[in-house]
Formats: sequence, C-alpha cells, structure tokens
Amino acid sequence: METLHKVLQQAETKRVAIGHFNISDLVTLKAVFEAARDLNAPVVVGTSEGERRFIGVRQVAAMVKSLREEYDFPIFLNADHTHSLLSAIEAAKAGFDWIVFDVSTLPFEENVRQTKAAVETLKALRPDILVEGEIGDIGSGSEIHDAAPDLQKGLTTPAEAKQFVDETGVDTLAPAVGNMHGMLKSMVAGNTKKRLDIERIRAVKAEARIFMTLHGASGTDDDDLREAIAAGMTVVHINTEVRLAWRRGLDSALAKQPDEIVPYKVLPQAVDSVKQVVAARLALFSAGRLARPAGQ
Ligand code: G3H
Ligand code: ZN
Repeated sequence: METLHKVLQQAETKRVAIGHFNISDLVTLKAVFEAARDLNAPVVVGTSEGERRFIGVRQVAAMVKSLREEYDFPIFLNADHTHSLLSAIEAAKAGFDWIVFDVSTLPFEENVRQTKAAVETLKALRPDILVEGEIGDIGSGSEIHDAAPDLQKGLTTPAEAKQFVDETGVDTLAPAVGNMHGMLKSMVAGNTKKRLDIERIRAVKAEARIFMTLHGASGTDDDDLREAIAAGMTVVHINTEVRLAWRRGLDSALAKQPDEIVPYKVLPQAVDSVKQVVAARLALFSAGRLARPAGQ
C-alpha cells in the first residue's frame, strides 16, 4: 500500500488533487469510500474534534483501517482542525495518518511557536505522521452562514508562508487564499459561488514549496477549483457539501417512508445522496485542469 506522502507526491506531479471529505458517522464514511472506490481515486477522510467526539477517536481509526486493509484501497484518515496538542497526540496514538494542527487564531509568532512544538512532539511519537499547519483566517464552521466574514484581512502572504514552513517544519500548509469555511445561504440555493485568489495561491506555493491544502472548498466555483489545483493546491477539503447532501438525502428518505423504522432501509438514500456529491468533486479534483469543459 502506498503511503499518504507518496500519494500526495503523485498528485502533485500530475497536477491533480486528493479529495478530503469530513465524516461524522458510518453513512458518510460509506458514501466517501464507495465513491472513491468507484472512481479508483485515493481519498482522505477527515474528522474534526467535534466529529471525533461523536464517532470516537479509536473507533473511526479502526473503521478506516478495516476498509484500507480489507479492500487494499488507499483511504487515509486526518485529524482535521485539531486545536490542542493533547487532542493531536490522542489522534496520533489512535493511528491517524495526518494531523491538522490548527492554532491559526493565535498571533502569527505564537502560531509558529506552538505548531513547531506540535510537529516535534508528533513526529517523535510517530515519525511517519504528516502534520499540517494553518495560517491566515478563513472563518470557522462547516455550516450554513448568514453572512461571510471579512476574508481580506486574513489573507496569507508568500513571505509569511515561507517563514511559517521554514520555522515549523510542517509537511503541509493550509493558507488563506479567498477560501472560507461553510456556505452562505445564497450558495446553498445555487445563486453564488466562492471565488479564489489564484495568483496568491501560485505566489504562496512558490515560497512555501510544500504540499498545500485548500480548506473551505464547499460551494467554490468549479473553474476556480481547477485553477487552484493547477496553481499548487494538492488537497481539497469538502465538508459542508457533504453535510448538506446527508441532510437532504435523509429528509427525502424519511418523507418517502414515514412509517419505516428500520435504519438500514432508510439510510441508504442518505448514503447515495452524499456519494453523488463526493463522486462529482473527486472527478473534478482527479482530472485537474483537463476537466475544464470546452470553450471555457
Ligand atoms: O476542514 C474542513 C474543510 O475546510 C471544509 O470546509 O465546509 O467549506 O467544505 P467546507
Ligand atoms: Zn478546514
């Protein structure tokens, strides 16, 4: 089985991206895994601290490991947005492949100091683990928001990216490049899209010179995603779109079968709904720029 690092290297060489999808339960895990297998695309499953509290740190690690081993398939597990070293250590010990150590709300120098310490501790525990650091402000909450935060103030500069990578030793970097966590109501309705600062991605990548992750990708313009991948994003995180599809699939299943009480007769519709979203995003990420429709 290829390592996560190797999978990222291959994606970077091909200028495609690996999809990262957050899950909270077996329904979403099944959907992500089935979509990835259908497309034969390596995939990363992510659980934030809240998602891990619900599903169980060791339990999610055991489930992902069992899928990887039984199907000999490159599915990896990320401890997404981990705000404390204790919680990062817990995930590393449980067997997570990757930790997003996120103290990006702290002043830059303190973010550098704490992230460097986290990298040292986690690598001492598990030399093979990948650690991601985050700089800038992309808002928080993979939910439906009424209004967008002011993203302009927290954009990542190439110089900051270089200093952060050099001083912390992170394996991957999550910058702020116009991306934002969650979706606005107008995005859910399909009337607006997130737009990315492609030139900034290119400039940050040139200085950071490590793998970069695009967080907050739900509701982003498809063409911007293709351009972002071509400009240096090797991983793309999707959560709100997964949650929205889960809710819509579940609502529709319950409405169609109001008297059904058997979970395994209701939940497959939620799996299908999430699977469609994941499959569409994976197809776009793994085709890279070649997927751009003619005439655009
Ligand atoms: O870490 C998770 C992601 O950055 C998800 O962001 O909810 O906007 O897709 P999203
Ligand atoms: Zn994120």
